[in-house]
Amino acid sequence: MAEIDAEAGTDPYEEERARLVRQVRARLESLARAGVATLPKSPERPPVPRPAPAIVESAPGPIAAPPMTPPPVERPRPAPTPPTPPQAPTPPPAPKPAARPVAAPSLFGSNEFKSPFVEPADRPAALEVLRAEVAACVKCANLAATRTQTVFADGSATARLMFIGEAPGADEDRRGVPFVGKAGQLLTDMITKGMGLRREDVFIANILKCRPPENRDPTPQESSNCFGYLERQIEIVRPEFICLLGRISASTLLNTALSMSRLRGRWHRVYGIPTIATYHPAYLLRTPTAKKDAWEDLQMLMRAMGLVIPKKKG
Ligand code: URA
Repeated sequence: MAEIDAEAGTDPYEEERARLVRQVRARLESLARAGVATLPKSPERPPVPRPAPAIVESAPGPIAAPPMTPPPVERPRPAPTPPTPPQAPTPPPAPKPAARPVAAPSLFGSNEFKSPFVEPADRPAALEVLRAEVAACVKCANLAATRTQTVFADGSATARLMFIGEAPGADEDRRGVPFVGKAGQLLTDMITKGMGLRREDVFIANILKCRPPENRDPTPQESSNCFGYLERQIEIVRPEFICLLGRISASTLLNTALSMSRLRGRWHRVYGIPTIATYHPAYLLRTPTAKKDAWEDLQMLMRAMGLVIPKKKG
C-alpha cells in the first residue's frame, strides 16, 4: 500500500499510479485493436517475449550504462559517431517468444520520457501542433533554404509500431510525405505484403525532416538540430515497438557505431521501447541478398507484436 504523505495530505504515488493506469488502459486498447479480446490468467499466461535486454555495447564515455542491472536503456543521442569500439561478444540468441504475446514488455519497463503522457484521443492534435512547428523550422539554414517543404511523418498517431528512417529524398521533398519513392514503395510492401499491416496503421518518421541536398548523409549538427522533433514524435505516439531503418537511424538512436550486421537480429530499447534495427529499404534495393535478413528481422518483430507470420509458399 502506498503511504499517504500526512503533512502534505497527498498520496505521493498518486501521479505514478495514474500514469500506470493510463499506460495499462492504452495498452489494453492497443491489444483490443490488435484483436486480443481476453487475457489469460497469469499462471497460464504464455511467457512474455523478452525482446529487451539490450546489450549496451556502444556509447563509450560517460553515458555508457553498466551492463544489465537495471536493464540498460539505450539512450538516443545524436552525437558525432564515435570510433568503432572493439567487437562485443555475440549476444545470446533471442529467446523464442510465445506465438501470441499478451503484452509488450515496455509497459513497466523504464522509460525516459520528459513530457507527460498524451491521451490517444489527443495525439493527432498534438502531432499537428508539432508539424506546424517543424514546418517553420530554420535551425539548419542550408536545409531550410534548399527544401521544397518539411517532411514530418506519415501514419497513425496511435500506432503500435513506428518506423524511423534517415531523411527525405527528392520524392519525399516534393510530396511532403516520408518513404514515397522507390525505397518507400519497398517499405510499404514490407509493411503490407510482409507484415500484413496497413501503411496507415503504422507511424513513419525520419531523423531529419528536411532533405539533405544531393541525398548526402545528415551531418551530426543537422541530426542534433532535428532530434528534438523526433523525440517528441516518439513521446506523443508512444509506440509499443520501434523499427530503425538503416545505419544512420540505428547509429543515431542507439548511439553506436556498430555495423547493421551487428545490430540487426536482436532487441534494443529506445526510451524503454523494444526496438529492432534492420537494413534500409534503399540498401535492400541495391543488395537484394540482404532481403532474407530483413525479413527475419521483421518476423522477430511480428512475433513480439503477436502478428501472424505467413507460411512460406511452396
Ligand atoms: N529514405 C529515408 O530514410 N527516408 C525517407 O523518407 C525516404 C527515403
